[in-house]
Amino acid sequence: MSGNPINPSVVDPVVEAALAAIAATLDIASLRAARGATVGEQSEISKLNATLKNMPNEFKAEAGALIGAARGRLNQAFAAREAELAAVEEQAKLVAEAVDVTAAPTKLAIGGRHPLSLLMDQISDVFVGMGWEIAEGPEVESEWFNFDALNFDADHPARAMQDTFFVDPVESHLVLRTHTSPVQVRSLLERELPVYVLCPGRVFRTDELDATHTPVFHQVEGLAIDKGLTMADLRGTLEHFARIMFGPEAQIRLRPSFFPFTEPSAELDVWHPNAKGGARWVEWGGCGMVNPNVLKAAGIDPEVYQGFAFGMGIERTLMFRNGVLDMHDMVESDIRFSQQFGVSL
Ligand code: PHE
Repeated sequence: MSGNPINPSVVDPVVEAALAAIAATLDIASLRAARGATVGEQSEISKLNATLKNMPNEFKAEAGALIGAARGRLNQAFAAREAELAAVEEQAKLVAEAVDVTAAPTKLAIGGRHPLSLLMDQISDVFVGMGWEIAEGPEVESEWFNFDALNFDADHPARAMQDTFFVDPVESHLVLRTHTSPVQVRSLLERELPVYVLCPGRVFRTDELDATHTPVFHQVEGLAIDKGLTMADLRGTLEHFARIMFGPEAQIRLRPSFFPFTEPSAELDVWHPNAKGGARWVEWGGCGMVNPNVLKAAGIDPEVYQGFAFGMGIERTLMFRNGVLDMHDMVESDIRFSQQFGVSL
């Protein structure tokens, strides 16, 4: 119908411009923004629509149909573009969030407990499993507990300056404990009899750090005092301990030796079936029946109570058990060393 002010030549360019604006959008957010400009209240199409009510009636129906069709096209175009963009965004998200289940996991270096701590815990567990208790003593120890109460002579060579770290001033009679044995006397003074205690802890000697020595190291001390304990109990206990540490084929061997605080005393060797380079005997620690003088120092009647004690180095145990060749690896705190033993926290 001619003469209608709202006709395709007016409406089509508006629709084309709106369709172009819709097509130009690159994501859902810009599409939503385009909606206001193309079909919203301020849009060209709405403005045309607003002119309808003042139009002569004869033109209204045709113009209204034209505008309605235009709106319909635009709404369809919106819906189609929205679906398109949603698919694109979904795809991008899937790519971004994709997990390659075949990829090697990234190991997080969360640190880990030091293998010496793990070994001390493992040893403690063996004895706790037999009903023993864990005992502790101070690292700065009085000379009396470290030496005198353990029946060391006043002029015993171990007291010499080159072995023991003395704490200033010398009259304080304090030392950095040179072994865990002072915990023997402390435990006997602190506890009711019978006593079955294990003491893992740090000890100090004036050694230079080299492949097999360190001035700060660890020992584990065992002490059992009861009625009627004999060397057979010592042997059985150490054999059980050795088999848990080194495997069921492990054996132990006692060689006569001397310690001021045990009588008789023995060096303890262990037959290490899985030693690097083949099964062999390895020196493991010292042991013996607690010297009556030590029991007396703790106020115990050696006629009634007897017992045994043993002690070994943790570093040394870790070295020959796990084939660690250099002490430096144990003191340098390189996480790569600890990680070989697992990172259980
Ligand atoms: N304390 C001794 C040492 O450090 C080891 C030991 C402990 C020996 C208990 C006998 C009994 O060498």
